Amino acid sequence: MSWPYYAILHVAGILLLTGATFAVFGGASEARRKLILMAGGILSLLALVGGFGLAAKKLGMPNPMDWPAWLWVKVLCWVGLSAIAGIAYRRRAQTPRWIALTTFFLLVALVMAFLKPALGR
Ligand code: HEM
Repeated sequence: MSWPYYAILHVAGILLLTGATFAVFGGASEARRKLILMAGGILSLLALVGGFGLAAKKLGMPNPMDWPAWLWVKVLCWVGLSAIAGIAYRRRAQTPRWIALTTFFLLVALVMAFLKPALGR
């Protein structure tokens, strides 16, 4: 598969995962919990597969040991984004905090994707 397909998978996975996460912030019921968290897990995995595919096919870096720091920062943002929906279901009272954290992870990942700062590595 060539890199544009990985880019579509990557960005679609991130967009839909963000949508599922904001559904929880919007008060998705406990009855929907299993469905939303399952969908979130699948979308998170698709975003990761797309990211690995982009690294291998577009950047020529199939081995994560060769990845620049900006890409590792993106991996940390992905871990955070992937975990938030489950935490937000358990701790609804802090929803504003989870919204701020999700926004932070998304913005940092986008800055890394488009500006690729050297970050010393
Ligand atoms: C919250 C997490 C993330 C967000 C919001 C995000 C978003 C994006 C966006 C919008 C692009 C631009 C698509 C393009 O130009 O083709 C991109 C590119 C990319 N992403 Fe992610 N991403 C995230 C996590 C990851 C992860 C976990 C990986 C690796 C496993 C990854 C690897 C890449 C690579 C290699 C590119 C191509 C960069 C380039 O075109 O030079 N991303 N990402």
